[in-house]
Amino acid sequence: MLEQVKEQKTLYVVVCAAGPAAEAGTLVGLAQERGWVVQVMATPAAVGFIDIDALEKQTGRPVRSRHRLPGEPRSPKADAVIIAPATFNTINKLANGIADNYVLDVVNEAIGLGVPTVVLPFVNSAYADRAPFKSSVDKLRAEQVRVLIGPGAFIPHDAGAGADAFERFPWALALDAHAS
Ligand SMILES: Cc1cc2nc3c(=O)[nH]c(=O)nc-3n(C[C@H](O)[C@H](O)[C@H](O)COP(=O)(O)O)c2cc1C
Repeated sequence: MLEQVKEQKTLYVVVCAAGPAAEAGTLVGLAQERGWVVQVMATPAAVGFIDIDALEKQTGRPVRSRHRLPGEPRSPKADAVIIAPATFNTINKLANGIADNYVLDVVNEAIGLGVPTVVLPFVNSAYADRAPFKSSVDKLRAEQVRVLIGPGAFIPHDAGAGADAFERFPWALALDAHAS
């Protein structure tokens, strides 16, 4: 009898420049345990927050933060996208169709293509209470993007208390959202 080969699906993990970015390997590990092939992408600002060598070793793939040069291999197509931690800046830009860096190009297009996309913010309550941010969350949800903020998801911390909130950052919720 022929053994059925289960095709592995590709998850783009998009990392923005917020404190928990340094622990993005946690999300990568959890995703790999669930059978995803992981392609890490980082905003230009996030590059200084992450350990690129460690993430490349963990995924076996280059971390992408800029457009490909001619001759460089393409990333595999995304079956799903997680932006975590997602910053105030990237959430507002994405909601409004701004694509002024590589990962915003990729995720704007992915949403348009209907690729399931989850946003796990890491913002303080001063940012989260701003009218433009609330409007961005609504706009993304209207496009079927799962934005994990609010009860049962990420709860914004007080301004200045971000470091205490790193440990509680609910990485696994982003994966659960793709499973549901
Ligand atoms: C040490 C440090 C911590 C930061 N933490 C956050 C944060 O938790 N959430 C957030 O939205 N922005 C945070 N910022 C601000 C973002 O890094 C800044 O808005 C940046 O432009 C975001 O770029 P990106 O969205 O392209 O990653 C932080 C900046 C620094 C320097």
